[in-house]
Amino acid sequence: GLPDRVTIWEVGPRDGLQNEDTVVPVDVKLEFIDRLADAGLTTIEATSFVHPKWVPQLADAEDLLARLSTRDGVAYPVLVPNERGLDRALAAGIRHIAIFASATETFANRNLNRTRDSQLTMFEPVVTRAVAEGLDVRGYVSMSFGDPWEGAVDPAAVVSVGRRLLDMGISQLSLGDTIGVATAGQVSALLGAFAEAGTSVDHLAVHFHDTYGQALTNTLEALRHGVTTVDSSAGGLGGCPYAESATGNLATEDLVWLLDGLGVSTGVDLDSLADTSAWMAERLGRPSPSRVVRALRG
Ligand code: HMG
Ligand code: MG
Repeated sequence: GLPDRVTIWEVGPRDGLQNEDTVVPVDVKLEFIDRLADAGLTTIEATSFVHPKWVPQLADAEDLLARLSTRDGVAYPVLVPNERGLDRALAAGIRHIAIFASATETFANRNLNRTRDSQLTMFEPVVTRAVAEGLDVRGYVSMSFGDPWEGAVDPAAVVSVGRRLLDMGISQLSLGDTIGVATAGQVSALLGAFAEAGTSVDHLAVHFHDTYGQALTNTLEALRHGVTTVDSSAGGLGGCPYAESATGNLATEDLVWLLDGLGVSTGVDLDSLADTSAWMAERLGRPSPSRVVRALRG
């Protein structure tokens, strides 16, 4: 069966804008985030407290959060890789953070300048301190299905990194198909491997990029396995500057179209969201990659 309700974890302002060639002005980012909340999204990943040289697109994180008018009932999580990032997030008054690990050695090195083991050493004090401060901590595992340098990823490697993060005290684990190569059988196998390892599906979320057009199918497979939190990006923006061949995330509009059709509630107003993505596409100077946005507003 399918869930009655799905929580959409909107990553457009972070995953979407981190991958743009240009730095989007902070006023545009603020309007984007506000419009996403207007459309009914209740979790909006706002930015990252990473090294500004590594991701110059999000170097304005402090400025953005100082000027953001937050709303009751809306969470604005941010990415935090290390204790320096946590300090910055706490100073900004953030209550929800996300750490981001890699299932593979190569991507841990390229994205975090750490080994697969030493990334965990970096995250451990972040999670411990954040949880002690009463923050909610999510963890990503990138390259959960395939890696551009290492090829197919063994579910056991993903489970082992994911379990370590859960044991540290994170509340939710998001399984990332960073380069958008996964197919539904792999989704089923990975969720099965977590179930076998004793991880409740209540702690799992999915994060699909749409490079090979499989994101929606993979999402449906995950819903059938009991997942109820799905990551997506308004208009299908997104990608990772440190992952070769990563393209946009599953578009939030594509996801809402599917869920509306299935009678699964999300609280998101598709029309209002498509307007926002069409508006953002104009700011970015190119059409939205989302099929649904183009069908509705093309
Ligand atoms: P490093 O060079 O190893 O950093 O980078 P370090 O720990 O050696 O520190 C070097 C200097 O950087 C120090 O300054 C630190 O203070 C400073 P110095 O003492 O030399 O003056 N520094 C910082 N400054 C500001 N904020 C910080 C910070 N940390 C250190 N947070 C580091 C390691 C993790 C910082 C770097 O690799 C990094 O920033 N990586 C981020 C990469 C990134 O953001 N990638 C995209 C997000 S992941 C993604 O998109 C995938 C996802 O969507 C899921 C999926 O699709 O699978 C989540
Ligand atoms: Mg991503």
